[in-house]
Amino acid sequence: MEDRQSTAVMSPVRNIAEILPTHTAALFDAAVKRAAELLRTGEVVALPTETVYGLAANALDAAAVARIFAVKGRPAHNPIIIHVCDLAMARRFAGKWPETAEKLARSFWPGPLTLVLPRTKEIPDIVTAGGSTVGVRWPSHPFMQAVIRECGFPLAAPSANPSNFLSPTNAQHVQSTLGDRIKLIVDGGQSQVGIESTVVDVTTTPPALLRPGMIHVESLAAALGETGLRSANSTSGETLKSPGQLKKHYSPNARLRILSWKDDTDLRRQLIALGAEVSRTQVVVYSAIPALPGLGGVSVIPHDAEAYARALYAELHRCDNEGAEWIVVESLPEGPEWQAIGDRLRRAAS
Ligand code: TXA
Ligand code: MG
Repeated sequence: MEDRQSTAVMSPVRNIAEILPTHTAALFDAAVKRAAELLRTGEVVALPTETVYGLAANALDAAAVARIFAVKGRPAHNPIIIHVCDLAMARRFAGKWPETAEKLARSFWPGPLTLVLPRTKEIPDIVTAGGSTVGVRWPSHPFMQAVIRECGFPLAAPSANPSNFLSPTNAQHVQSTLGDRIKLIVDGGQSQVGIESTVVDVTTTPPALLRPGMIHVESLAAALGETGLRSANSTSGETLKSPGQLKKHYSPNARLRILSWKDDTDLRRQLIALGAEVSRTQVVVYSAIPALPGLGGVSVIPHDAEAYARALYAELHRCDNEGAEWIVVESLPEGPEWQAIGDRLRRAAS
């Protein structure tokens, strides 16, 4: 009897989020209606986007946005980007619309690009962390677009993970980390880009790259033409313009190292030097597939930047789920298309 009582106390009934599928037209429409209904009443819901899953709330409702901060455990000084469903909505919430915003929006929206713009008063302070700018993105994911259109207001949405943890790229990732803190997760499939959007500050001339993403510097520079692009380095003496770009970010639970090795013997030697137990180590590679006996696991990701980005977070989540103590990632190829992936891996390793 006593045993039962203590069990009841130790495992309270947890509120587990409902997951709504969207793979038929009818399910898609029903999920749009349900998500919009919750968003209109000030709830926070997890929604799919093409980059990563977002934790969304009505961007014009300060109390709703406060819930996002609470659910994520996000520090109040880190601003949240707003998501719109067309150019008109983007321009309406931007205090100014510079020529550079026009060029980048025409080239890359809808898509994985966030523009930091002057804000209007309609955007509550909590969204911008009290700052004078607001990050705006028009996502390409059809579900996100449909919900914003149905709501008629922009959606504030950071990635749907506890602060500093890896971003989710499918509904299960959200369920396993935030499922007991929210009512609804919409399952829109695997995120097609797989890492967070490129963030560009267009309030300065030339614009500044605040966070690299799969729309890389060369594409941005080509779209901007003569104006060019400045690369803001958050580790320099400059003011921290993108607070989310703190060095430690995007981390799995396991310790992560980026290594290159000649052969299995060399890999084993490096694991021993790290103090990593071979059986508790997962290795993520695109070319140097190890055959080291006793390894915890090996994942092979295609040697193609877009496919790699799409798969990366899901692999890191899987390594964590398998109880890895260490994740060893093969060092990346050179080239602009690998820059954002390298950025995320270096943060995960710090
Ligand atoms: O792909 C994405 O951007 C995803 C999906 C859900 O849209 N969202 C996302 O949000 O990654 P979050 O909050 O995890 O990352 C947004 C980044 C943070 O580094 C934040 O500090 C920065 O953008 N940011 C937001 N508003 C800003 C502003 N007004 N000025 C400078 N940086 C800003
Ligand atoms: Mg995030």
